[in-house]
Amino acid sequence: MDNNIKANDIHKKVIFSGIQPTGKITIGNYLGSIKNWIPMQEEFDSIFCVVDMHSITVNQIPAELRKNTYDLLALYLACGLDPQKSILFVQSHVPAHAELAWVLNTITYVGEMNRMTQFKDKSRKHADNINMGLMDYPVLMASDILLYQTDLVPVGIDQKQHVELARDIAQRFNNRYSPTFVVPECYTPKIGAKIMSLQEPTAKMSKSDENENAVVTMLDDKDAIMRKFKRAVTDSDTEVRFDVENKPGVSNLLSIYSCFTGKTIEQAQNEFSGKGYGDFKIKVAESVIEGIAPIQSEQQRIAKDKAYMDEVLKDGAMRACRIAYKTLDKVYKKVGFIPKIR
Ligand code: TRP
Repeated sequence: MDNNIKANDIHKKVIFSGIQPTGKITIGNYLGSIKNWIPMQEEFDSIFCVVDMHSITVNQIPAELRKNTYDLLALYLACGLDPQKSILFVQSHVPAHAELAWVLNTITYVGEMNRMTQFKDKSRKHADNINMGLMDYPVLMASDILLYQTDLVPVGIDQKQHVELARDIAQRFNNRYSPTFVVPECYTPKIGAKIMSLQEPTAKMSKSDENENAVVTMLDDKDAIMRKFKRAVTDSDTEVRFDVENKPGVSNLLSIYSCFTGKTIEQAQNEFSGKGYGDFKIKVAESVIEGIAPIQSEQQRIAKDKAYMDEVLKDGAMRACRIAYKTLDKVYKKVGFIPKIR
């Protein structure tokens, strides 16, 4: 590995991750990402971003984007991301992301971008708006990662291809010029189940799902959560048993229950053996309600405190800029831009 790029070896490893402030954050996002980030803050130099520039690759209503950005920051804070331990910031506050993306664009091939699975999916979904930004999305993501000399990128499996592209771009730049970027790796924590849609339990729970009943968000109230679990798709059998292949709906509910109660799947399965689906669904809903209630009240409290959030963002952007521009200055120099007189 290219550890010699770093100033010294006593540094902790750097992790970087981000979420788009688009739509509502689901319990799947929470269990799959934010919840796992909390303990990482102790072990790593951690940077967590709200990637608003990625969001505008699909149509947004400006006022909603603004609100969603604050709401997501408030959720980060409510879940336990700590501005004393991590750098928390909004992507558009650090212009270096767009600036590095421009340079990286020139060493990225159109053919590579055309092969990106998410680009192909989104092009199908937003056929009336296949803009350059949508295609370039993975290069901006590579910039996010490479600017901070990131070692590890905690993301879900659906983002693996993008992290691999970031690796390719980093290696290509390093080979063409000279060692500049740390080559990042995907970091998939051992724990954290993949949470599926409540209506179509063979598909991932997605925040862009149009069917409200399929998705439980971190901001849903008690009644909504209960209603959605009561309507969750199971099967025509009656046995509560973990069997993803034959009983995807029931298995998904067991996973959710296990994540929120800390019980193992086996313990959960035993608890519900001989009981009907009706009781089971209510218990799962209650575990979710109980698990997210303290986060929700904290989120609401913080979301009202704009002054505090602005303070966090100002400090985060300042610290992020310091690191990002160190990298960008090197990049500009290596590609042959003359230094700017400051
Ligand atoms: N594309 C990621 C997602 O949709 C979000 C993201 C943007 C990201 N930049 C990143 C994740 C950098 C990790 C690192 O989930």
